[in-house]
Amino acid sequence: MKEIILNHPMVSHKISILRNKDTSTKEFRELISELATILCLEALRDAKLESFKVKTPIDETEGFKINENNYAFVPILRAGMGMVDGVLTVIPNAKIGHIGLYRNESTLEPVEYYCKLPNKIEEKTVILLDPMLATGGSAVNAITQLKKREVKKIKFLAILGAPEGIKKIKEMHPDVEIYLACKDEKLNESGYIVPGLGDAGDRIYGTK
Ligand code: PRP
Ligand code: URA
Repeated sequence: MKEIILNHPMVSHKISILRNKDTSTKEFRELISELATILCLEALRDAKLESFKVKTPIDETEGFKINENNYAFVPILRAGMGMVDGVLTVIPNAKIGHIGLYRNESTLEPVEYYCKLPNKIEEKTVILLDPMLATGGSAVNAITQLKKREVKKIKFLAILGAPEGIKKIKEMHPDVEIYLACKDEKLNESGYIVPGLGDAGDRIYGTK
């Protein structure tokens, strides 16, 4: 079971701006994207490299490359879309799937409304994206949908995670690696992360 929390002063700096209720939509979007890039780099620490010969202007040496075709990004709609540009700067040719889920506001249970995944998804490492891991219902549902399609390797990336959500993923899907920019304190009675940053989707899209 792998749970990685980014521990870096610049991550703390950027998350503090995200948390600020007065941060503009533009800056909020940019920071979600930047943190997604950092999370993705961390998630790819174990990426397999193929070696090849490269000629520099001076000499010939050994170069290395990853096989971009081995990866797919799957944002959980809507807020996960805010992380896509950031992760594409790391693997520009990765395929992209979409899983549509929203939380029922009273039960907090995820409601499925869309799923479109790349061909041969079962052969790829799937990097699942959602800025918020609260109760864990949405992440667990998305992971279950991926496993129904025979996906074997899943890495879940979120900006903020509550202990409740982390525990739920570990219980239901202990093989999934979790990468968080920050672990927050708890959930409040409405299922929001505390101290959190509010509703990520609304802040990315300016819908409230
Ligand atoms: C938010 C967030 C996650 C989910 C997390 O989405 O982006 O998908 O809530 O909560 P959970 O861990 O308790 O399931 P929301 O349902 O608000 O939909 P949206 O992305 O369309 O705004
Ligand atoms: N979804 C959000 O966008 N924010 C929270 O705090 C919890 C779930």
